[in-house]
Amino acid sequence: MSANLGRVYSVPSPTGQGTVSARPVVFVILGGTGDLARRKLVPAIFEIVRQGLIPQPVHIVGAAGSDLTHEEFRGRVAEAVREFARVKPGSDAELVEFLSHVFYQSVKFQDAGSFRELKLLLDELERGGASPHRIFYLATPPSAYGPIVQNLQAVGLADRRDDLWPRVVIEKPFGRDLPSALELNQVVLSVFDEHQVYRIDHYLGKETVQNIMVFRFANGIFEPTWNRRYIDHVQITVAEEIGIGSRGRYYEEAGVIRDMVQNHMLQILSMIAMEPPTSFHADSIRDERVKVLKCIRPIPVSAINEHVVRAQYGSGLAKGSKVWAYREEDNVAAESMTETYIAIKLFIENWRWAGVPFYLRSGKYLPKRVTEVAIQYRGVPHMLFRDVLTDPLEPSALILRIQPDEGISLTFSTKHPGMLMDIRNQAMDFNYYEAYGDKAPDAYERLLLDVVVGDGTLFPRTDAVVASWKFVDQIVEGWRASRVRNLPQYEPGSWGPVEAVEMMAADQRKWRRP
Ligand code: BG6
Repeated sequence: MSANLGRVYSVPSPTGQGTVSARPVVFVILGGTGDLARRKLVPAIFEIVRQGLIPQPVHIVGAAGSDLTHEEFRGRVAEAVREFARVKPGSDAELVEFLSHVFYQSVKFQDAGSFRELKLLLDELERGGASPHRIFYLATPPSAYGPIVQNLQAVGLADRRDDLWPRVVIEKPFGRDLPSALELNQVVLSVFDEHQVYRIDHYLGKETVQNIMVFRFANGIFEPTWNRRYIDHVQITVAEEIGIGSRGRYYEEAGVIRDMVQNHMLQILSMIAMEPPTSFHADSIRDERVKVLKCIRPIPVSAINEHVVRAQYGSGLAKGSKVWAYREEDNVAAESMTETYIAIKLFIENWRWAGVPFYLRSGKYLPKRVTEVAIQYRGVPHMLFRDVLTDPLEPSALILRIQPDEGISLTFSTKHPGMLMDIRNQAMDFNYYEAYGDKAPDAYERLLLDVVVGDGTLFPRTDAVVASWKFVDQIVEGWRASRVRNLPQYEPGSWGPVEAVEMMAADQRKWRRP
């Protein structure tokens, strides 16, 4: 049975299940010359075309500020495919064929006139056989989202024609707080209906994040223990070994709370904590995810320091190379208060999770790139072996390794062979690559395909965006009220500031070392 999250893709189905639901499309990438387009979008489109997951013809129209000819843009697309495609083109002919459907239009995002030019190009392509189904991908700075949507409407590119529904894909960040997200939403929803809008959170497209639902709801043995009776706490770690790179300007405005927590981490949390949905339809799954977000207990301003630790990386060595302190990075203020590390303790107020702390942490320049969820089970109620133990026993933990080294482990106590009652923790280990080979599609492949077939399951809906901003805004408000002038610094390549360790220690717990 194929597990395409309930949907059978199309033409020709790689799984041999032949319902056609995808249609030929034109991807219009606003911000088509940018980094996201180059590294992620173009390679992902190439891959889904290569695999025949959407019917031909598939066109790409790059639209951005630079003046480029079609040929010049094709050159960039070819480079992007050669450098970043998951499976490199089998032959020059394959790439040439792909490029023959690639076009470029120079567009000033604020200027309706240039969108008229874009429309002329799209109409001309349609007369030449391109699909009338258009997907507008907003891979631009967020300040351009509103004007782009309004200009699409102004020139008629947002119009519905019979059964044609232009779709719009919006990259994160969707706003920078609740008021700005609501404002943007209002603009977007005054032009498009909710079902035409796809807010990308690429973590939801990761194979292992989707597998959380399968693991929980396709197996009978874990779900009965998935609650406050058996689980002591949950740790969600999204660690990065890189710094902010050249993104100082963006990062100063975002910090890790907006860059990682508001979107990726809260979405992972909602997958872990959601109730079983009533069906496998987009809205019943999204309904359950959003309920979790709505149940997160707000962190009161007065308790901010007990629940949230923030810090910045200092200067030092990461992977043997000299690293500047965050405050010394380009486009970062010398007195910046933007955090590059965060640890949060939160509670979900419902029957399943009451009293179970969820600890979230994320940061730049940590020792390794790793994303994992650790479900830490409670210890046994009565320890039979207490008199013979030399060290306290670690209760069982279930580790969902999202990336890299994707897999699942369950740890438990065993008797070490010998005459002594030596009890040690061991793990049962499942590894994706060993089990299935290197087959996982990139998150963007999955998500772009979902947009083509019109499946919003893996995209946050308005209510989710609102609920997550409410939680984040409260933390930011707490920070503002605390009037702190300096953040703790942590050494690059370390697991973060000592304050985060102390936060756990105050609860008699420890962070895992992934
Ligand atoms: C992005 C953030 O959304 O996710 C980046 O803006 C971060 O700062 C990236 O590095 C991490 O994504 P991944 O897929 O590499 O874990």
